[in-house]
Amino acid sequence: MTRKGVLTILGLETSCDETAAAVVRRHTGESGADSGGFRGEILSNAVFSQIKEHAPYGGVVPEIAARAHIEHLDGLITRALEDAKVGWEDLDAIAATAGPGLIGGVIVGLMTAKGIALACGLPLVAVNHLEGHALTARLTDGIAFPYLLLLVSGGHSQLLVVEGVGRYRRLGTTIDDAVGEAFDKVAKMMHLGFPGGPAVERAAKAGDASRFHLPRPLMGKPGCDFSFSGLKTAVRQVIEAQEEMTDRLRADIAASFQATVADVLADRVSHAMAMAKLPEGSRRFVVAGGVASNQTLRARLETTATERGYEFIVPPAKLCTDNGAMIAWAGAERFAMGLEDGLEISPLARWPLDPTAQAKPGAGVKA
Ligand code: KG4
Ligand code: ZN
Repeated sequence: MTRKGVLTILGLETSCDETAAAVVRRHTGESGADSGGFRGEILSNAVFSQIKEHAPYGGVVPEIAARAHIEHLDGLITRALEDAKVGWEDLDAIAATAGPGLIGGVIVGLMTAKGIALACGLPLVAVNHLEGHALTARLTDGIAFPYLLLLVSGGHSQLLVVEGVGRYRRLGTTIDDAVGEAFDKVAKMMHLGFPGGPAVERAAKAGDASRFHLPRPLMGKPGCDFSFSGLKTAVRQVIEAQEEMTDRLRADIAASFQATVADVLADRVSHAMAMAKLPEGSRRFVVAGGVASNQTLRARLETTATERGYEFIVPPAKLCTDNGAMIAWAGAERFAMGLEDGLEISPLARWPLDPTAQAKPGAGVKA
């Protein structure tokens, strides 16, 4: 069954350190819908970032995150409905992140969604957080399937062909650290503050990217896997070799590190473009996930795409980092296909996107 018309979905995100609720609409088969036959609309997007809660510890503390989700989620849901000017009766379904992520937080969001589903008689859609990132470009830019996706977040670095909702062909992944993790660790080594990615980007603005030549792991090698652990160690060695850390040094190290990551990503992406074998009309390249909000990386990847005849699509920065709109949208995409979940669905700490690990038991039941 395919659901047509206008779907209004509330989405909840609680998998890491952002508590978020949003209302999104998916329009189909109406005038004004784009050539793909659908159009996305964000009615509200309420996000509470737990930066202050975790900053004293220099990283996300799972138990603190779970408690902060409990404290803030109800208020954010009320705000999301108010901002969107919709009531419970206007919703077609409720979507929530069911994994992967910090399990305490995932439980808070999914159980809240189940409670609402039960109380309001609404269908529940359990969303893979990574699918939320992967499909955001369809919400913002209305693009059709298939497309090549670079998904770069705090826990994941992957190159995938997105063939459809729930249909992912993985071309490459990290063999050690994720890109966001490398940014976070480099920031920590230089005491740049939390969260690490934006702190490194800020420091790098004033830096000389050519001052330190750092190793470019796997660059030029066949395939499109990533490795960032050696790069992180090299940064540590550069830091330890300095007699005294100055702002100048911090900026130059941050800029050199960021430029190295840009080189590695550009190389891996160009290999993925060759491997993906997308037909001419489908050469679209999407970057998603928190790291995709980095301006230097965006600019570099845009050049790579343009040089290879690919259209470049990246959502606005605030839709790259975790938010509720991406979960509401992924929920809308699944619901539009007739997919929904039963109240017995379990939260998952680990839940890969690619078909080798479709680990969600009983999920995606055709309604
Ligand atoms: O997608 P996301 O918000 O949460 C996860 O699903 O992990 O991504 C968070 C990651 C963190 O590692 C953060 O440091 C990184 O994205 N990040 C950035 C930037 N903004 C966030 N990395 C580099 N530059 C940024 N501007
Ligand atoms: Zn994320």
